[in-house]
Amino acid sequence: MITVTRENNMALMSRYPDNYFELAIVDPPYGILNKTKRGGDHKFNMEEYSQWDVKPNDEYFNELFRVSKNQIIWGGNYFSQIWLRSEYNKGFIIWDKNQPESLNNFSMAEMAWSSLDKPSKIFRYSVRKNRNKIHPTQKPIELYEWLLKMYAKKGDKILDTHLGSGTIAIACYNAGLSLTACEISESYFLKSLEKISESIPENLVQKNLEDAYSILFPNQIHSENEKHDEYKEQIYQLMLFNESKAKFNLTKVKPKEIKSVKAV
Ligand SMILES: C[S@@+](CC[C@H](N)C(=O)[O-])C[C@H]1O[C@@H](n2cnc3c(N)ncnc32)[C@H](O)[C@@H]1O
Repeated sequence: MITVTRENNMALMSRYPDNYFELAIVDPPYGILNKTKRGGDHKFNMEEYSQWDVKPNDEYFNELFRVSKNQIIWGGNYFSQIWLRSEYNKGFIIWDKNQPESLNNFSMAEMAWSSLDKPSKIFRYSVRKNRNKIHPTQKPIELYEWLLKMYAKKGDKILDTHLGSGTIAIACYNAGLSLTACEISESYFLKSLEKISESIPENLVQKNLEDAYSILFPNQIHSENEKHDEYKEQIYQLMLFNESKAKFNLTKVKPKEIKSVKAV
């Protein structure tokens, strides 16, 4: 099951025990737009972009390393504190975007830091194939599919603390891997739901609560039985999410009952 909530990732991570996720694949803001006035795709609202383009702090990384066993962190070259967490920093990952050298303002590659003890790898995929973007820093579905193929195992629970466009959710669905993700911005959250609904069968995408949706795998659609512990765990997590929101926002209209998440 894939669950996406609209909330601050610190709130999401606080609900999970240590080492709950096998693999976190995260893409935090690099914090470069406000410094360089470069980067991103200018067809998007740059004011909105500059508001969230703030690097995460040590507290975020402490929580991330607490709840996940392994991490792949895009923009790893911008976050100096994570390099001190490993003796070797061996398995970094490069996305070669096939950008012409002549485009001075655009980087030809992006780098992810990884905790995994694997040789460094390069994924080559033209950034120009990444069309119909709904988010200024959207990464291609193909990149996430490749990462999952290379670094995740069947049954792994994946975490993404900065969902953005939702392309990772489509890749996880295609790979049959469970994902827990959140996005703080209402507009990106809603756009991700739209994007996901275009590529996943309608009956599998469910808007459970005002600020949460989930994607079921086809084998989960008729099942509320014992076999699906992970499904039940995610329903439980959605209830906790709903309760914590209710506590912080008592004036808001009560969202639909959590019962509506039941598989049909
Ligand atoms: C670099 S973008 C992620 C792009 C994404 N990987 C994609 O392919 O579309 C970072 C996203 O994190 C969101 N964000 C920033 N701070 C956040 C926080 N504290 N909690 C949750 N989401 C956050 C931003 O709104 C933005 O959409």
